[in-house]
This record gives sequence, C-alpha cells and structure tokens, in this order.
Amino acid sequence: MLTIPDSLITRLAEAKTVTVLTGAGISAESGVPTFRDAQSGLWARYDPHQLATAEGFASNPKLVWEWYEWRRQIISKVRPNPGHVALAEMERLFPKYSLITQNVDALHERSGSKDVIELHGNIHRNKCFVEGIVIDSWPSDDSVPPRCPRCSGWLRPDVVWFGESLPLAALAHAELSAMTCEVFLSVGTSSQVHPAAGLADAAKAAGAVIVEINLEKTPLTKTADYSLRGKAGELLPALVTAIGSQSAERKTGSE
Ligand code: OAD
Repeated sequence: MLTIPDSLITRLAEAKTVTVLTGAGISAESGVPTFRDAQSGLWARYDPHQLATAEGFASNPKLVWEWYEWRRQIISKVRPNPGHVALAEMERLFPKYSLITQNVDALHERSGSKDVIELHGNIHRNKCFVEGIVIDSWPSDDSVPPRCPRCSGWLRPDVVWFGESLPLAALAHAELSAMTCEVFLSVGTSSQVHPAAGLADAAKAAGAVIVEINLEKTPLTKTADYSLRGKAGELLPALVTAIGSQSAERKTGSE
C-alpha cells in the first residue's frame, strides 16, 4: 500500500513551478542496471576508473568502447516504465516544469518528455576524443572504436566521465531550475555524485519543498521535507493521479 501524505498532494496541486532530478533508479524497473546497487550495480561489477575516465579510455579504447556498446544494446532493448511516463505527464500539470536527468539512456525522451536537461550526456551520441565535437556518422571499417572522419582520433560516447566537467549550458539550466522551483523532486538517485547531488541543496536553500522518492535512505533523506520510500514506477503514477484528482476537485469547487 503506497501512502502519499495529503499535505504533499495539496502542495503539488498548488505548485506552479516544479523541478525533477532523476537518477539510475528511475530506469531500474525498465531493466537498466543502476550504478551503486550492492549486487547488481555496474560499479559493483566493473571498475569505473577503467571504464568511465578519459585515462581508462586512453589506455584501452577498445575495451571501453565495447563496454558502452554492451550498455547501448541493453538500453535499446528496454522500454520506458510507468515512472518515466508519469514524469512526462507531469508536464501538463505544472505551468513551469523542468526535468533534469543524470541518466544517459534517453528513456525520458522515449516516453514523451520534452526539453530534458541531460547532465551526464547521452549514450546514443558519440564525440571525437581529441576534438570533443559530436560526430553522427563515420566511414564503416573494422576500427574499434571507430575513427573521427575529421581528424582520425578515436570516437567515444558523449557521456560525462569521472573527472570531466558537465556540459555547461545543461548545468546552468539545471541550477536555475533548482533555484527557482517551489517543489523539487529527487527520484531514484543515490545523491552521492556532485554537482547533480548539490541541486537539491540549492533548491532547499532557495526555499523549495524537497521530495525524495527512493527505495532506500540517501544523504538527501535527512534534509528532504518528504521522503517516499518505494518504487518510482509505482509512486510517480500514484502521485500524478492524486494531483490530477485534487486539481479537478478544486476546479469543480470554484465553479
Ligand atoms: P546510483 O546507482 O548511485 O543510485 C540509484 C538509486 O536509485 C539508489 O539510491 C537506489 O536505492 C535507487 N533505486 C533503485 N531502484 C529504484 C526504484 N525502482 N525506484 C526508486 N529508486 C530506486 O545512480 P545515480 O544516483 O543515478 O555517472 O548515480 C549518479 C551517477 O553516478 C550516474 O549518472 C553515473 C554514476 O557514476 C556517470 O556515469 C558520470
């Protein structure tokens, strides 16, 4: 039985500006592995220094490219889940709505969300390791990774690796959305990786109500105004339904 406090539903039904930050947990119910789950998380089975740093790529580009190919294949076979769909539906509920994600799987876009702020890039895109320019196509040959058609440098996935800066425009947009919202929802993220993890703190400092949806406690739990413990794919659709009903009742009441 999912319990969502009435006061939270009322606050959301009144809100004009809502910002959401998602992490790997939103895609877990689609079958995409998270990073820090003790058993099934990617970083429990693979070394992030080898697979998610520029140094790791430079020392073994084939290994890193093939690991991302494997992840791309997993992602291409899965579908958005009810949590993604509920977040896309929220666009209709709030006059100003921003969806920020740390995920690189593009499942938000596939479920119909528009203007998603991708903080950590997109695994379906590639860029030149030397020039940093996004490359859409390259001559097919046996090279693994493929080579940049401009400079012959290696191509790499356009995702943010450890030690790299986040895309500036996306980060600026995310920070503004966090600092100007009335309600900030943090969904399915361990709230351990900065700067994304700092967005909830920035929202809180600017006066927003902080709502966390997660299976477990995180470092954000103690500062969150509401901490909903459960699956995003169940809690988010329930939240959307409850907000919709309350908004409809208000409309009827005011007629
Ligand atoms: P993590 O793997 O660190 O955390 C996933 C969170 O989702 C955990 O707190 C889980 O408890 C929670 N969770 C799992 N299933 C859930 C479900 N069905 N409903 C709700 N919550 C659920 O993933 P992120 O916080 O996204 O960065 O990790 C942040 C960044 O660290 C990633 O973007 C990635 C990684 O290294 C890069 O690759 C740059």
